[in-house]
Amino acid sequence: MLNIAIRAARAAGTIITRSVEQVDTLTITSKARNQFVSEVDERAEGEIIAVIHKAYPDHGILAEESGTQGNDEYQWIIDPLDGTTNFLYGVPHFAISIALRHRGRLEHGVVYDPIRNELFTASRGAGAQLNSRRIRVTTRRGLDEALLGTGMPYSDMVHLDAYLGMLKALIPPTAGIRRPGSASLDLAYVAAGRYDGFWEIGLNPWDIAAGVLLIQEAGGLVSDLAGNPRHMETGHIVAAGPKVFKAMLQTLKPHLTDALR
Ligand code: IPD
Ligand code: CA
Ligand code: CA
Repeated sequence: MLNIAIRAARAAGTIITRSVEQVDTLTITSKARNQFVSEVDERAEGEIIAVIHKAYPDHGILAEESGTQGNDEYQWIIDPLDGTTNFLYGVPHFAISIALRHRGRLEHGVVYDPIRNELFTASRGAGAQLNSRRIRVTTRRGLDEALLGTGMPYSDMVHLDAYLGMLKALIPPTAGIRRPGSASLDLAYVAAGRYDGFWEIGLNPWDIAAGVLLIQEAGGLVSDLAGNPRHMETGHIVAAGPKVFKAMLQTLKPHLTDALR
C-alpha cells in the first residue's frame, strides 16, 4: 500500500511540475477568500485516485477537492497540492500528501516535494524515511535555539488575535519562526529534524494525516494546542520532539481561547 501511495504521489508530482511554467494559463477558481483551486489541483487529485482505485477498487477516499467516497474501513486521505498559494505565485515550495487510515488508525503516509525530489515516507511501526534514509526529530531540550515552523491565518480570521499572541510568545525564546506555506512539508521537516517543532490552527485532515504519521514514526509527539489527541478532528496541531513539544504547549497555554482548548 505504501508503494501505491508513492506511485500516486510521483504521478501527481509530474502533473504539477509540468504546469509550473504555465501557471498564468491555468483556470483558477476561488473556494473562499484567499482559497484558490486550479485545474492542476483537480487533475493531480484525479490521477492519485485513479492510481489508488486501480490497485484497491473497494477503498474509500477523503480528498480535498472531491470530498469523500466509498467505505471508510480503508480510507485514503489526499491533498493533491499542499501549498497551492505558493504554486500559483511561482514559489517553488509545495507537496503532495497521501495517507492511508485503516479502521481509524494511520498506517501509511507519504509527503512528496516534486521540486526537490524529496520523498518522505512512514509506515506504522517501521519508522520514517526521507528518500529511503531513516529520519528522526531533533533531541533539543527546549525552546532555546529551536527553529519552529508555523502557518498563519490567511482566510478565516477568527483565531487571528489568539494566533498573534502565540507568535509573540514564541518569537523571543526561539532561534526563529518560519512560515513556508505547505503544512504537510512543515510536518515532514519536523520529522526530518530540519525544524524543532511546528504549530498551526485550523488545518484539515488532508493537510496533516501523512505528516502526523511521519512525526510519530520519527520519534516525535503530536497533539492539539492543549495537548490532547484531537488534532485530526480539530485541525489545531502542535508537533515536535518530546522536550520542545512540552515547552511549546506550556508557552501556548495562556493564549488558548475556549474554541482552541
Ligand atoms: C494550505 C497549506 C498552508 C496552510 C493552510 C493550508 P493548501 O493548504 O498547507 O501551509 O497554512 O492552512 O490550507 O490549501 O495549499 O492545500
Ligand atoms: Ca493543504
Ligand atoms: Ca491542497
